[in-house]
Amino acid sequence: MTIEPTAQQAAALFESVYGGAPAGLWAAPGRVNVIGEHTDYNAGFVLPMAIDKYTVAAAAPRRDGVLRMVSTAGGGSAVEIALDQLTPGNPRGWTRYPAGVAWALGGAGVLPQTFGGADIAFASEVPVGSGLSSSAALECSTGLALAGVAGANISPAELARLAQYAENAYAGIPCGPLDQLASAFGADGAVLFIDTRTFSINVYPFDLADAGLTLLVINTRVSHDNAESGYQDRRTTCEKAAEVLGVAALRDLTSADLPQARAQLDEKAFRRVRHVVTEDDRVERFVNLLNLGPLTGPRLNAAGELLTASHVSLRDDYEVSCAELDTVVDAALRGGAHGARMTGGGFGGSAIALVSQDRVDKVSEAVLAALPQAEIFQAVAARGAHRFA
Ligand code: GLA
Repeated sequence: MTIEPTAQQAAALFESVYGGAPAGLWAAPGRVNVIGEHTDYNAGFVLPMAIDKYTVAAAAPRRDGVLRMVSTAGGGSAVEIALDQLTPGNPRGWTRYPAGVAWALGGAGVLPQTFGGADIAFASEVPVGSGLSSSAALECSTGLALAGVAGANISPAELARLAQYAENAYAGIPCGPLDQLASAFGADGAVLFIDTRTFSINVYPFDLADAGLTLLVINTRVSHDNAESGYQDRRTTCEKAAEVLGVAALRDLTSADLPQARAQLDEKAFRRVRHVVTEDDRVERFVNLLNLGPLTGPRLNAAGELLTASHVSLRDDYEVSCAELDTVVDAALRGGAHGARMTGGGFGGSAIALVSQDRVDKVSEAVLAALPQAEIFQAVAARGAHRFA
C-alpha cells in the first residue's frame, strides 16, 4: 500500500507542529482522465480513474473556532485563520483550497454550528502542477478530515460537489466537476463513466494487467502561465456557443448538428464546439468497447485510436495542448503505444499512453529521448477518498 509513507509524513508533521497525535488520517487521491476532456463544464461525459497517489490530512479538533493548516510542501510554519474570518480570497496561496472547503462545508451545514475548528497537517504524493489534480486531492482530504473531526457525515457526492464549489467560489478557479468526482468516487481497478449533467456514475472494471496492458502517465513537468486564462476563455466560448445554438449545453448537440453549427458560429468557436461534440462521442465509444470485453485485438486498436483522436482534437480544434505534450504523445506512439493523449486541462501537465507491458521500456525510452525531463510512472486505478486511520 503506497499510502502508508504519506500517512506517516502527515502524522509526523502534525506532531512536530501542533504537539500530540492527530485524531485521525484521511486520504484522497489524484486522478487521470482516460478520455472525455473539457466536456465536464459542457454537461458531457468523462471517464476518469483515481490513481494510487494520495494526499493525506492528519487532523484533530479545536475548541476556539480557529483553523490551522500546515503542509510538508508549504515550508514548515502553519497558516492560521478564524472560521468566522473565512471569505473568498483569504487566505491566499495553497491554504485557500482547504480554507475554502471549511467555508463550503460550514455554509452547507455539513459542519455543525458548534464546530470549534481544527488543526490539519498535509502530506502529498500527487505532484503539484502536473495535471493530476493535486488540488482536488487536497480539497477532498480536507472535506473528509473536517467532517471526521466534527463527527459529521458527508457522502462522496456531497464531498465532490462542495469541493468543486470551494475551488470555484473560494479559490476562484472555474473548474468543472471532473477532478473532485474522480477523487471522491475512485474505485480499485476501475474507471468511472460519469454523466456530468446528472452526476450518474457507472463503475467499469479496468483490468489492464489482465489484458497485458498498462497506462503510463508522462508528466512533462511544464505548467504554462496561460492555463487559467486559457481555461476560462474555452469555457466562455462554449457557453456562448450553446446560447447561439439554442441548447442548454454543448452536450445536447450531436455530430449531425455540426453543419448547422458551422453556419452559425465563427471558425474558432466552431472548432471548439466540434471538439466537445466529438469528444463526448469518443467517451461513449470507449465505454462501449469496455462493455464488449477486455481490451485485446481489434478492441484494443479501436481504444488506442480513440485516445489518439482525442489528443488530435484537443491539439488542433480546442488548442489546449502545448509543444511538450505533443512531443511526448508523438514519441509514445512512435515507441509503440496503442494510443496516447494529454490528460486534464492541458497547457502543460501530463499525458497518458496505453501500452502493452512488453513495450513499456521501449515507449519510456522514446519519450525520454524526446523530452529528458519527463517523469514516467504506471497508473494504478485506486480507491477514492476515505479514512485511512
Ligand atoms: C481541469 C479541470 C476539470 C476539467 C479538465 C478538462 O482538470 O479542473 O474540471 O475541465 O481540466 O477536462
